[in-house]
Amino acid sequence: MLVNAKEMLVKAKAGKYAVGQFNINNLEWTKAVLETAEELKSPVILGVSAGAGKYMCGFKTVAAMVDAMVDSMGITVPVALHLDHGTYEDCYKCIDAGFSSIMFDGSHYAIEENVAKTKELIAVCEEKGLSIEAEVGSIGGEEDGVVGMGECADPDECKMIADLGVSMLAAGIGNIHGKYPENWAGLSFETLDAIQQKTGDMPLVLHGGTGIPADMIKKAISLGVAKINVNTECQIAFSAAVREYIEAGKDLQGKGFDPRKLLAPGSAAIKATVKEKMELFGSVGKA
Ligand code: 13P
Repeated sequence: MLVNAKEMLVKAKAGKYAVGQFNINNLEWTKAVLETAEELKSPVILGVSAGAGKYMCGFKTVAAMVDAMVDSMGITVPVALHLDHGTYEDCYKCIDAGFSSIMFDGSHYAIEENVAKTKELIAVCEEKGLSIEAEVGSIGGEEDGVVGMGECADPDECKMIADLGVSMLAAGIGNIHGKYPENWAGLSFETLDAIQQKTGDMPLVLHGGTGIPADMIKKAISLGVAKINVNTECQIAFSAAVREYIEAGKDLQGKGFDPRKLLAPGSAAIKATVKEKMELFGSVGKA
C-alpha cells in the first residue's frame, strides 16, 4: 500500500537523514527503485513529472501500476507516489488518480494567487490523507539550452509558505536540475541555515540531487534537508549501461535483442545509483 510522505520525512528530519525521491519513467525504472528500497530497508519516494506521467499513459496508469507493483513485489518499506513540480490542474488529476503525495509548483503565479491555490490544495490533501510539497525560490536548470543558476529563496517567504501547513518545503539554495555547470558556486548553506531557523521542524527538500558532491549533501542534511530529489543521475547511469551492452555487440548475440536482456544492464545501473544515494542520504535501515 502507498503511504504519504509526511511520517517518513518527519522521522528523517528528526533522525538527521534524508529520504530519496527517485523519478520514474517506466516499469523497469520503478521495479529497480522498489527492489533497491526493499533490499536496503529504506523508505522511498517515487517522483513522477508531468512529462513522465504523459509518457506512461497518464497519472491513472502510473498509480495503478505502482500500486500493483508494491503489492505483487511484496514491498514492505514505506513507498510514497509523488507528483513532481505539479501544475494546479495536474495536482487534482493526481489526487483523483490515487497518488499519495503532490508537489504544487505555483512559482509562476503572483504570490497572492500562489498562496490561495496552495491553501486550497493543502485543505484537499489533508482531507484525503496526502502529503503536499511547495516551492519557494525557483530551482534553475537547463531550459532551451540555457542553464539558469539556481536562485536563493527568501527565508521569510519560506516561513510564510511553511506556516500555511505544507508537509515539506522545497527552497532554492543555489541548486539546479540536471548537470551542474563547471562554474557552479555550490549550495548556499547560509541561506539554508536561515531557512531552517525560520521554519523549525519543517522537512526541507533539496531538488537537483544529481551531481551535488557528497560533503555538500551531508552538510545540507545536517541543516534540515530531509528529502533529496534525484532524476538525471539515474538516466545517465541507465543510458551508459545500455550503450555499453550495445557497443559490445551483445544485442547481436543469441537472443540478446530480447528487451528483458537489453534493458537489464540499465536496470542494474539504476539500482547501483539508488543504492549509492540511499547510503549517502543515510536512509538505509530506516524503514
Ligand atoms: P536532477 O535531475 O538534477 O537529479 O533533479 C531531480 C529533481 O529535482 C526532480 O524534481
